[in-house]
Amino acid sequence: MSLRLGDLAPDFIAETTEGTIHFHEWLGNSWGVLFSHPADFTPVCTTELGAMAKLTDQFEKLNVKVLAISADSLESHREWITDINETQNTSVNYPLIADPEFTIANLYGMVHPNVDKFTVRSVFIIGPDKKIKLMITYPASTGRNFDEIFRVIESLQLTANYSVATPANWKHGEDVIITPAVKDEEIPGKFPKGHTRVKPYLRTTPQPDI
Ligand code: BEZ
Repeated sequence: MSLRLGDLAPDFIAETTEGTIHFHEWLGNSWGVLFSHPADFTPVCTTELGAMAKLTDQFEKLNVKVLAISADSLESHREWITDINETQNTSVNYPLIADPEFTIANLYGMVHPNVDKFTVRSVFIIGPDKKIKLMITYPASTGRNFDEIFRVIESLQLTANYSVATPANWKHGEDVIITPAVKDEEIPGKFPKGHTRVKPYLRTTPQPDI
């Protein structure tokens, strides 16, 4: 199955380290981050699960639920989490799905049919409408940057509420772009903090929600 941005995130029922999860029901009105791993006890993934555990408080403040998946059993997951907590000096505090048969990995199109299972290293951001807002697939050799995932969620939440887009390398608090659909004459009413008209198609304004 080939998923694209804007598609409904496929629903599933999964066994996790925190009990059975009915995915859409579990998400409720929250945003979701689903990130996947090809196997337990893999070194880069060990650091990633630990890094994410240190960020879950921040994600929770943005109404984001975190869910990991790895293609191994629950028993294996529990042993791996002990290792992660020990080596990464943290406490994994979000569910890890057991997907030993690659059922959910295949549902999300994470497994390349002609390559080995190590292609299962994806991140999905899912909106409260259950639609896919971002998909990134990483090589095995490169650990994921979860600050970037957090940054994208900040952007997605901002741009869902205002007629703006965020420029390259934008960070919370920096100026944003007024979308082309907004006419020049509408700008003072919509963006009372002021704006800069760099070009007719590139108009910026201070971040409107702070
Ligand atoms: C890892 O180090 O996490 C990893 C190694 C090989 C394949 C996939 C992941």
